[in-house]
Amino acid sequence: MSERTIPLIDQRSSDLATPAAALQAHSRLGARGLLADTLGRPLRDLRISVTDRCNFRCSYCMPKEIFDKDYTYLPHAELLSFEEITRIARVFVAHGVQKIRLTGGEPLLRKNLERLIEQLAQLRTPEGLPLDLTLTTNGSLLARKARALKDAGLQRVTVSLDGLDDAVFRKMNDVDFPVADVLAGIQAAQDVGLGPVKVNMVVKNGTNTHEILPMAHHFKGTGVVLRLIEYMDVGATNGWRMDEVLPSAEVVKRIHAELPLVQLDPSVAGETAERWGYANAAGQHDQAAGEIGVISSVTQAFCADCNRARLSTEGKLFMCLFASRGYDLRALIRGNPIDDDLTSAVAHIWQGRTDRYSELRSTLPADTSGGARRVEMSYIGG
Ligand code: GTP
Ligand code: 5AD
Ligand code: SF4
Ligand code: SF4
Repeated sequence: MSERTIPLIDQRSSDLATPAAALQAHSRLGARGLLADTLGRPLRDLRISVTDRCNFRCSYCMPKEIFDKDYTYLPHAELLSFEEITRIARVFVAHGVQKIRLTGGEPLLRKNLERLIEQLAQLRTPEGLPLDLTLTTNGSLLARKARALKDAGLQRVTVSLDGLDDAVFRKMNDVDFPVADVLAGIQAAQDVGLGPVKVNMVVKNGTNTHEILPMAHHFKGTGVVLRLIEYMDVGATNGWRMDEVLPSAEVVKRIHAELPLVQLDPSVAGETAERWGYANAAGQHDQAAGEIGVISSVTQAFCADCNRARLSTEGKLFMCLFASRGYDLRALIRGNPIDDDLTSAVAHIWQGRTDRYSELRSTLPADTSGGARRVEMSYIGG
C-alpha cells in the first residue's frame, strides 16, 4: 500500500493509508501491552462508535441545520459487524487496552447491542483480567434497556445530561425530549448496578450555566458522579466560540461557594476529569456526599497522558478527537481471516502517534487541516 493523503470534504471517505511498514512489521508483535507512542503515551482506552445516528440534535454536536432529513448517514453495509468489532477489539486488548467505551451517535439505537456487549465482555487482558466495559448514552432508551445491558456484561454507563430544567433540556437536545425520561434512565442504571453512573454535562456559557448548581445539588449524595465538561471546538459544524466556554476553574469556584469541595487524587493515569470531592465540616472529603469531575480540554489540555484511540462505525481508526482522517482497519480484516496485518498496523500506527491537538490549539492557525474537515463527534464518539 502506498502513502497517500487526500483532503476531501466528507471526512468519512478520507483515509490515511496504513503505513506499508506496518504490514511487514511482524516483529512488533513482541511489543504487546507495552506500546508507546512518540510521546511515550501507552494505549489503554478504545472508544468504539457503533452508529453515527442519534435521536437528539444537541447544538454542540449534531446541529439540526446540518443533520437534517437530507443528511446521509453511513449505509448498513459500511458498518462494522459485531464480529468485526470484537475482532478488532481483541487485537487492541492484546496491545494494552484495558477500557472499552461504546459510543455513537447514540449507541442504544444500534439493534441488538447486547449481543456485542456479550462478545466484548468475554475479552481478557494479557494478565487475564476483564475489561472496564462501559457505554456513553443520552439516556433516552436507558430505562428500557438497563437490565438487558447489565445482563449482557456491561459494567457501567455514562449518561449525557445538560440540565435539570425541562425547558432548558428540551431546548438543548433540540428534539423536545423530556428530562424526566433521562432521569428515569439514570435511576434504572443505578437500580440494576450499572455503576458508578457518571453524568456528563457540557457547559455552554450563557445556555445552561444556571443549571450547574441545581445539577450539583441534585446528584450530591446519590452515588452519581457529575462531570462538567468545557464546550469544545470538536468537529466542523457546531459554530464553536471561545466566549461560550466557561472555564472549569470558574465552574469549581461557583460550586465550591455553595457546596465546599476538596481536590482528590486521580484514580487512574491519563484520566480526562479532574476530581473534586464534597467536603465535610472538617474540610475533608465526605465519601457519602460523593464527588464531581471537571473536564477542561480547552483551558487545561490533558493530551500529555492521552491513552485513547477511537474506532469509527465503519472501522476507521482515529488517533485524536480532533483528527481529520483515520486509518481504514476494516480493509485489513474484511475477506482476511488472519489478524497479523491488523495486529501489526495497530502497533505501528500507535507507535507513530504524535497527536496533541488540545495542547496546540492556541498556537495553531485557525485552519490546519489542509482542506480536510475534522471528524464530527457523532461519527467518532465522545
Ligand atoms: P471515565 O472512564 O468514566 O472516566 O470516562 P472518560 O472521562 O474517559 O470518558 P467520557 O467519554 O465520559 O469523557 C467525557 C468527555 O470528555 C467527552 O464527552 C469529551 O467531551 C471529553 N473527552 C473525552 N476524551 C477526550 C479526549 O481524548 N480529548 C478531549 N479533548 N476530550 C475528551
Ligand atoms: N464539547 C464537549 N463535549 C461534547 N460532546 C459532544 N460534543 C461536545 C462538545 N462540542 C460530548 C458530551 C456528550 C458526549 C456524547 O460527547 O459529553 O456527553
Ligand atoms: Fe446525540 Fe450525544 Fe451528540 Fe447529543 S451529544 S446529539 S445525545 S450523540
Ligand atoms: Fe487526546 Fe487529541 Fe484529546 Fe489531546 S485532543 S487529549 S491527543 S484526543
